[in-house]
Order: sequence, then structure tokens, then C-alpha cells
Amino acid sequence: MIQSKLCTDSIGNALRAALSSRMIRLEDTSAIFYDLSFLEARIRHLLSCFPPRTLHGLAVKANPLARVMELIRDISPAVGVEAASIGEVSMAMRAGYEPNRVVFDSPVKTLSDLTFALEQGININIDNLTELERVHHLLLTGIPYRQSTTEEGNLISKSTIGSIGLRINPQIGVGTILESSVAGVYSKFGVPFNHYRTELEHAFLSYPWLTGMHLHVGSQGCAMEMLLDGIGVLYDFMLDMNRKRDALGFPQISVFDIGGGLPVSYLSGQTAPSMEEYSRKIAIRAPQLITDPNIRLITEFGRWTYTNSGWTVSRVEYVKADPSVNTIMLHVGADLFLRECLNPHDWQHEYTVFDHLGMPKQGIDKNPYNLAGPLCFSGDIIAKNVALPKVEEGDYLVIHDTGGYTFSMWSRYNSRQTPRIIGYREDRFVVLKERETLDDLHNFWT
Ligand SMILES: Cc1ncc(COP(=O)(O)O)c(C=O)c1O
Repeated sequence: MIQSKLCTDSIGNALRAALSSRMIRLEDTSAIFYDLSFLEARIRHLLSCFPPRTLHGLAVKANPLARVMELIRDISPAVGVEAASIGEVSMAMRAGYEPNRVVFDSPVKTLSDLTFALEQGININIDNLTELERVHHLLLTGIPYRQSTTEEGNLISKSTIGSIGLRINPQIGVGTILESSVAGVYSKFGVPFNHYRTELEHAFLSYPWLTGMHLHVGSQGCAMEMLLDGIGVLYDFMLDMNRKRDALGFPQISVFDIGGGLPVSYLSGQTAPSMEEYSRKIAIRAPQLITDPNIRLITEFGRWTYTNSGWTVSRVEYVKADPSVNTIMLHVGADLFLRECLNPHDWQHEYTVFDHLGMPKQGIDKNPYNLAGPLCFSGDIIAKNVALPKVEEGDYLVIHDTGGYTFSMWSRYNSRQTPRIIGYREDRFVVLKERETLDDLHNFWT
């Protein structure tokens, strides 16, 4: 069993150590923390749940911090990245990931993006049938698509370098969060399986180089059974296509990318499915993915990897009292918690109040609190009516489970400086990204 959440005690210890060692300085009105031991344990656990030949393309969009990408790169060659844009591809390569550890998934790849990815030997997931034709033409025009060869030029497994796959929407339904569900009857991503079955079959029986299949069902809000249903649709299709490709003398479809989407728990009492169970169930529904040594499985877990390893702290600048609710004025709001502010029903966190020395406060105040951010619009409230101990100016509010999809969604509205981002192992700290200076801010807008 792997620990699913950081406990408040360990966060409190880190907060006090950060305050006393001045990792949190006066100007750090807010800061983002990563427990790097927790993160590493989670990645090692992920590796242990799948066959060693699996590539784990950890979704950059969940956490694009260059220092973090560098730190986890050497855990294993099976650690890779899933990049949703050419910018994320570039970040991954600068962080030292070889091209065959990068999976490129953007739905709007340009000709030059595709040319670059093919030339470099990056794993590409084509999003739609028009993009498929573009790749076909690029390959016809002699783009030097790298074959999987050793240094001596001998052909090695076709699946180890630069595979080309096609994203298919299995159309198995949407989860509880519409905005992050992508496997409904309609989705802007991938080729819809039921609507385009004939065209899909034609593609896999026309292009020998199309050796991969990719799906992604959604991010949070999709039960494990939905993810398994999606895998099942593509798995059956893959078996069928492989029989037919065999008859044509085509190489087998040997790369199967299951995407990400295993949900995590943001609230105590909310149980999240375990990675071991997910892998066990994949082995039952789609056995070859786990047992066949010729199949290279790819995963793309972002939220599961990062979310529970991070937390955010803001100093309480002011507390405003109203007859029935108090409002805490914080230094982070919709700039860091866009989804929480705009869609509070679906995105919630737990909160802990610490005093100015980092000691946890006890009890529950008679009025609940609205957690308001610093931005200039009334919807800039992370959560409403939260039961908390009495909060005072100078306290610290910790927002739990902010390691994924928070800083990566930073908004520039109102030109707030991005906070200092700090990694730690026990009480040893490292600055992962420095707080933005006013000069940095000026450069952004100039
Ligand atoms: C194509 C693709 N892969 C992987 C992910 C990561 O999903 P999650 O962070 O929920 O694991 C996403 C996120 O939505 C995605 O769009």
C-alpha cells in the first residue's frame, strides 16, 4: 500500500521548519511546497505496478516545473513525459529526456511540430484523420523518420524509438466532471470509434508505420471502470487489426497508450482507486498489455503522480467579518486555483490553519469562512462557508493537495508575482523555482 495523502502533521513540521529557516521570507506571501520523498515513492510505486517495459509518460501539464522533471528523470528510464504542446516537448528535452521517453499528444500539431517530432524520434499520438494524412505525406516526402536501429545500424524493436500512434475516442461516456471528460459521444479529441470505425480500420490496414493506439478517458471524475471500458474497446480493436495486419505482412500494433486519468482523493474520506488494482484489472480485461513482451504499454498519469505531493500556503493578510460569514483575504486565488473558483462544485480541497509560527490552530469558529483571493473580480473565492478555527491576520492557511494542475494553470490576471516553489525531504529544502521579481513580471508583459 502506498500513502495516498500527506498528513497535516508532516505538513505542519515542514511549515515550521520553512518559517524558522527563512525558506518562507517576508516577501513570500504565499509559497508552494512539494514533498519530494512522497513524490518519489509514488513514482516508484507506479513503476512497480506495471511491467518494466512500460513507458510512464508523466503528464507535463500537471506539473511543468523543470527542476522536478530533472529530479525524477533518473529514477528509472521508464519515467518519461507526456507533452501536450511543442513547448512541453521542448521543456522535456531540455530537462534531459531522450526523445523516446517523450510522448507528444497535442491536438493542434503543425507541420513543423510533426516534422520536428518525426526527425527526433519522439513518440507521436496523432489526434485526427487529417493529421494522419499530414504524417503520411511527410513520410512520403522522405522525412528522415528514425528507424529503431542500434548504433551499428541493426534494426531493433520498432517500438523502442519514435512510435506513431492514433488517438481513438472509445466513446464510453462522460464522468462526473464534464470539462475534463473526453470520451463521450462527442469529444474534441481523437477519432470517435463508433462514428469512424471504417476509416479507422482503413488507416490501420493502409499504413504499416501506424503501430500505436492511444486513448484517454478523462482527468478526475472518471471511475476506474470507465477507464477499463475505454481500454477494452481499443484492445479488442487492436486484436482484430493485428490479425488483419498479419495477413498483410504489416508489423503488429505494438504500442498501447492508456492515457492517464486515475482519480485521486482531495478530501479525507473520499477513497481513490489504487494503482495496483487498476493494473490487476487491466491484466484481466486486456491481458496481452501486461503479459506480451512485444507490446510496449504507455501510461500518462499526471494527477495521480503529482497532486497529493504538493500543498500551498498563503499568509492571511486580512480577515473581514460579516454577520454570518467571515472572509479571509489570501495571496492566492483564481490565479492559482482557476478551476476551484470557477467550478467550486467539482474542485475542492481541504484546508488547515496555522498560526504565525506554524502551529496548527484548534477548534471551530462560530462563523464559517470564505477563502478569497487577491484578484479583481468577485468570483475570486477558492471556497465558501468553510468551517475553520478562528483565523487572524498573520496566520497561515494551507491548501492541501495542490501538486498537480494548480501552478501549471497560473493566470496572469492582475499581474501577481508567481510564488516561490520549494521542494523538501524531511527538513532539507531546495528552491525549485524562485518567486517572480517585479522585473520578471515586467519582462512578461513587455
Ligand atoms: C491526453 C492526456 N493524457 C494524460 C492526461 C493526464 O491525466 P491525469 O492527470 O488525470 O492523469 C491528460 C489530462 O487531461 C490528457 O489530456
